[in-house]
Amino acid sequence: MKKRHQPAEPYRIKSVESIRLLNRQERESIIARARYNLFRVDADEIYIDLLTDSGTAAMSNRQWAALMIGDESYAGAASFRRFEKTVRDIFRKEFVVPCHQGRSAENMLFSTIVREGDYVPNNTHFDTTRANAQHKKGIPVDFPSPDLESAEARPFMGNMDTVRLEEFIRTQGADRIPVVIMTITNNSVGGQPVSMKNIREVSDICRRHGIPFFFDCARFAENAYFIKRDEPGYSEKSIEYIVGEMFDTCDGVMMSAKKDGLGNIGGFIALNDAELYRKLTELMIIIEGYPTYGGLAGRDLDVLSVGLREVMDFAYLDFRIEQVAYFGELIKQAGIPIIEPTGGHAVFADAGLFLPHILPEQFPAQSLAVAFYTEGGVRAVEIGSLMFGGVEPGTGRQVRARKELVRMALPRRVYTNSHLEYVADIACRINARKESLPGYKITSQPALLRHFTCELEPVQPRGVNVNS
Ligand code: F0G
Repeated sequence: MKKRHQPAEPYRIKSVESIRLLNRQERESIIARARYNLFRVDADEIYIDLLTDSGTAAMSNRQWAALMIGDESYAGAASFRRFEKTVRDIFRKEFVVPCHQGRSAENMLFSTIVREGDYVPNNTHFDTTRANAQHKKGIPVDFPSPDLESAEARPFMGNMDTVRLEEFIRTQGADRIPVVIMTITNNSVGGQPVSMKNIREVSDICRRHGIPFFFDCARFAENAYFIKRDEPGYSEKSIEYIVGEMFDTCDGVMMSAKKDGLGNIGGFIALNDAELYRKLTELMIIIEGYPTYGGLAGRDLDVLSVGLREVMDFAYLDFRIEQVAYFGELIKQAGIPIIEPTGGHAVFADAGLFLPHILPEQFPAQSLAVAFYTEGGVRAVEIGSLMFGGVEPGTGRQVRARKELVRMALPRRVYTNSHLEYVADIACRINARKESLPGYKITSQPALLRHFTCELEPVQPRGVNVNS
């Protein structure tokens, strides 16, 4: 088989952090004690942690150096001025509102513009974005790409369905829609990118109907890389150029800088509307901090000023996206089906397909995630009916996820290909004994966001008998 082109890391290692693999007996007792919920396992009990790519990046020597020049003045700190200039340059907006992470940006924006019963369209909401819209009594609506239903892998499956968006605006009326949001890359459909063509179309629709157009741009540089690689007309353009073209189409952005900011904390809103900026700063002084630090230390702002520029380095992005693709290839070769094409930040294993002997209500993806831990000390996260299923608020209906997935997210600049090859070996070992994997049942759960804290226990699986 043709070996994938996988460039070597465009950096060398200057500082290291030890990790250790506990023995199987220890892992089995830890996961039982954690009630088979990986969020309840401590980080030092994990060998390879693929829970999230958020806030987990390794900083560069330049970022560590920037920490030392952080200005911790309460008002008008030099760190904020450097951050403001960086955000203005990259995102092309006049007003910059720093905040401590993505969900506080969502809370502040929606608190200011969403009224009860308003609709908030998105290509697909990330969970916290959806929850924040609902918290302000708004109604989040998703318009994912129809390509997601096709069996064949296509580029830009993160796109928004513009036909449905426009029809929705026509039927509901633009005055009930305070903002349209485009999430790049589209995390909830596997980190799939959005094309420049689709961005332009959505921007035009918003302009025609007089609706503000915002990005949720946690992974903006990864999205720009896909445009350069896969969209006709962009292969000769620089990442900076593509990023500029993307953000010229919108009225504002909100960002969790814990992803493509290459920082461990931080976020912001940037926009051109002076009146909205005034409202946001009034609110932020009450809930987040003074407008020139927004819940962050000056040094955090300096780290992000460096990170937001570093992340646009082509060699870095080429390594990053190809590493995700290489990892996906290894998991597939190990016998575990994945969602294809791989997106920007994670590989999604299709546990529903892999473990047909476990019914969806017995959480096959949780079973696979637990097996990765017991077999090899690897932590991944269930994105299936444990996360999205259960009793629907309002209707009381039992719902389940569209697919039973396990997300293995890659922290930025943290793991080498040998770490990923190790995870693929664990995948092979799981594949060899997949019929022995149990189902799970919930023994205790909270009312909301149950996957974070619920307790589970293994049960005899019921499902399609794979041997018959
Ligand atoms: N928007 C997107 C697209 C995200 O992926 C996230 C976080 C947020 C907003 C919220 O940002 O965590 O800084 O408050 N995603 C993380 C993940 C948690 O694991 O995918 P936050």
